[in-house]
Amino acid sequence: MSTPEVISTITALQHRLGQARGRSALVGGDTRIVLVPTMGALHAGHLALVRRARALGDIVVVSIFVNPLQFGAGEDLERYPRTLDADLATLADENVSVVFAPTASEMYPDSANGTRVTAGPIGSAYEGAARPGHFDGMLTVVAKLLGIVAPDTAVFGQKDGQQVFLVQSMVADLNLRTAIEVVETVREPSGLALSSRNRYLDDAQNTAAQALFAGLRAAVQAALAGPAAALAAAHARIAAQPLVKLDYLVIVHPQTFVPVDDAYRGPARMLVAARVGTTRLIDNVPLALG
Ligand code: PAF
Repeated sequence: MSTPEVISTITALQHRLGQARGRSALVGGDTRIVLVPTMGALHAGHLALVRRARALGDIVVVSIFVNPLQFGAGEDLERYPRTLDADLATLADENVSVVFAPTASEMYPDSANGTRVTAGPIGSAYEGAARPGHFDGMLTVVAKLLGIVAPDTAVFGQKDGQQVFLVQSMVADLNLRTAIEVVETVREPSGLALSSRNRYLDDAQNTAAQALFAGLRAAVQAALAGPAAALAAAHARIAAQPLVKLDYLVIVHPQTFVPVDDAYRGPARMLVAARVGTTRLIDNVPLALG
């Protein structure tokens, strides 16, 4: 078993990566560094990101940092699972070179006055409407991680579809040099998308939560008849589960994340968010409309 090296300061991480880059340059090589940003509580979905990272580069850096900036007042920052030892055991034998696990003060030494990244208008829609400031906090930490690690590629999961869209937008808008790689959502056999928050669900809630993917699947099947039919099919499946409190169900254009109108035909993405008990769950699927 080989557990990754755990580094908690920015200086030590940059020293370690600088050495690796230098050694490789000496022999005319080009070490490719791939970053997998996480908040820990790792599950099979994260392992899919790590495996893709390994296929794309020589040095895989997994960051584990529960980013306080992306949690609003009253959200689950305090109870968010912090499981570093278990995470390191999960990463053993995955050929991860380094785990970067900084403290909040390492990342935000001047927490009140630091520079922040602001998402464009889509950052205030959907998840951003329910969680004001969430995406600004997420983009700020991702921008910092890209600055600290300077990876060739960073890998994100499609489960957080709006996050992926906003990270891709930030990289394009700010001319950042990291390529963004997106890995398909990993699901339980029931179809429930893997999430670190699934551990908050009891058995009845887990069963109810499966209605989200059932709804999305129904929409995929109804998509040939257009947006209204796809939305109606998904609504019907989700409404059948009283434990699921739907927040939004929307069909967006994949390039803009703006809702499509009913006349639209072509590729799209359906996004869903709901509460099951006190747990907020999100999911999304591609749709071929019409
Ligand atoms: O998806 C996550 O776990 C987080 O939003 C991320 C990208 C690690 C930033 O904190």
